[in-house]
Amino acid sequence: MLILLGGEKGGTGKTTLATNLAVQRAQHGHDVVLLDTDIQGAASYWARVRQDAGRTPRVPCLHKYGPGLQADLQALTAQAADIIMDAGGRDAVELRAGLVTAARAYLPVQASQFDIWTLDHLEELVLADTVIYDRIAYRRAAREGKAVHELVPPDRKASAECALFYEEVFDAA
Ligand SMILES: Nc1ncnc2c1ncn2[C@@H]1O[C@H](COP(=O)(O)OP(=O)(O)O)[C@@H](O)[C@H]1O
Ligand SMILES: [Mg+2]
Repeated sequence: MLILLGGEKGGTGKTTLATNLAVQRAQHGHDVVLLDTDIQGAASYWARVRQDAGRTPRVPCLHKYGPGLQADLQALTAQAADIIMDAGGRDAVELRAGLVTAARAYLPVQASQFDIWTLDHLEELVLADTVIYDRIAYRRAAREGKAVHELVPPDRKASAECALFYEEVFDAA
């Protein structure tokens, strides 16, 4: 199953959510591949840091982008592993290939204070149930090649909201 984290904006948390989902999926005993389709390669850097630190579970990461990606996605999904695809923040061939192939696509948006004041209206537009809050723990975990629940000491609220997101994505509740 291909899960896409995409959207046309940068800095909304796509890579953060992709890395957190990938670690949780591996910890639940599934074969998972983190597919970094952003030429900037942030997810790949994270995976390298994780690997160099010897963290388990290992999260295999592929870095692929460009016009051939659509065919690669079909081949990868046929191999049955769960693929968590991190797309760059722009309208590009990668995002389009992901959108046509993904079983589920999540397009995170960063809510501004203006959005929060009009949350009732926003809720009609937002389909995901999970809200991820702005927490320093996400930045710390990223630097260390970790998912947020692997931090020592843990940030309970961040861990809980990421676990909820995992349950939502994989219907694992
Ligand atoms: N929920 C969060 N709380 C605090 N910082 C976050 C959160 N999600 C992401 N960040 C930080 O914001 C920056 C952009 O996040 P990133 O996941 O790289 O976004 P994208 O992949 O959409 O460009 C990174 O420095 C990341 O550590
Ligand atoms: Mg990114």
